[in-house]
Amino acid sequence: MTSFSFDLLHEDGRARRGRLHTRRGVVETPVFMPVGTQATVKAMYPETLKEIGAQIILANTYHLLLRPGHERVRALGGLHRFMNWDRPILTDSGGFQVFSLGELRKIDEQGVRFQSHLDGAAHVLTPESSIAIQEALGSDIIMAFDECIPYPATREYVAESTARSSRWAARCRQARQPEDGAALFGIVQGGMHRDLRAQSVADLLAIGFEGYAVGGLSVGESAELMYEVMDWTMPLLPRDCPRYVMGVGTPENLVEGVRRGVDMFDCVMPTRNARNGVLFTSFGKISIKQARFLDDESPIDPDCDCYVCRHYSRAYLRHLYQSNEILSSMLNTHHNLHYYQQLMARMRDAIESGTFETFRAEFLAARRIDP
Ligand code: GUN
Ligand code: ZN
Repeated sequence: MTSFSFDLLHEDGRARRGRLHTRRGVVETPVFMPVGTQATVKAMYPETLKEIGAQIILANTYHLLLRPGHERVRALGGLHRFMNWDRPILTDSGGFQVFSLGELRKIDEQGVRFQSHLDGAAHVLTPESSIAIQEALGSDIIMAFDECIPYPATREYVAESTARSSRWAARCRQARQPEDGAALFGIVQGGMHRDLRAQSVADLLAIGFEGYAVGGLSVGESAELMYEVMDWTMPLLPRDCPRYVMGVGTPENLVEGVRRGVDMFDCVMPTRNARNGVLFTSFGKISIKQARFLDDESPIDPDCDCYVCRHYSRAYLRHLYQSNEILSSMLNTHHNLHYYQQLMARMRDAIESGTFETFRAEFLAARRIDP
């Protein structure tokens, strides 16, 4: 039996303030989930993730299946114990990673045959095996096995793939172990076609899920088109279920997504950009490698109260980056994730006080000022 529920606490326009109850505790929404692909949010101690307010993280079926193996993780006490993270974990189904393999994969009705990017060994992922793997890991929110459709794609391909993802979603629902306490989320596909998005939603609603994700976004389309797909899709989803936009996005994307009724996000952007020296601030992105920071004693963001901004200068962070020091990744990741967590907390407060549009206007205005 699933021990999962969602409370919708406030609405401000289309923006929603809610609360997820999972078997491993509560998640305040809208929420951003840091990405921990290989059972680690790169360069972060789990303890520090908690300190900066991370409530739930994401892990990947595909990577953990290949290494160290889901059966090994199960034998070692599950993913939470393995990685020392006791808050909720959402696992992606492999339906995204596997499809990024290009030549190394083949899709049919049964599932996806693919070769490991590590050693070339042959594997098959099916709706049934994806669910079994996510259950073995001890996931709290399990994602249906789907195909993330590339962009651009022919309408014919989008229609065919979306219908197959719906049949796979039904198989995922069937494959769930009744005694497992996790929630199962369906994933809306349909590419950039309004009618196919609506068909996908109808298919998933007929099966019934604890939450609904929108997939196939941030795949190379413009931000405007992504917002349009959100505008079409969000109103079709049940008001009393959580809504998750997968793999999104920039701070602007999060604000625009929340404005359109999205409750959950994940993205590698804050963590990956940090390792590449790109830092998020209230006035926009900066690249710490720039020579203009050589003698700059100020913090990354004067408006940020994170550990990094309280103790380190831009000059020092530039030096660490240029010297390829490990601490560069650690401090940059800490700041970026803190920035994302603060942004979500500020949006939650704004929705509660009915001031989301004012918040958005101020957010956008601040980003036009140069540091
Ligand atoms: N991550 C980003 N987009 C997607 C998607 O469409 N499907 C899945 N499973 N994961 C994603
Ligand atoms: Zn900071």
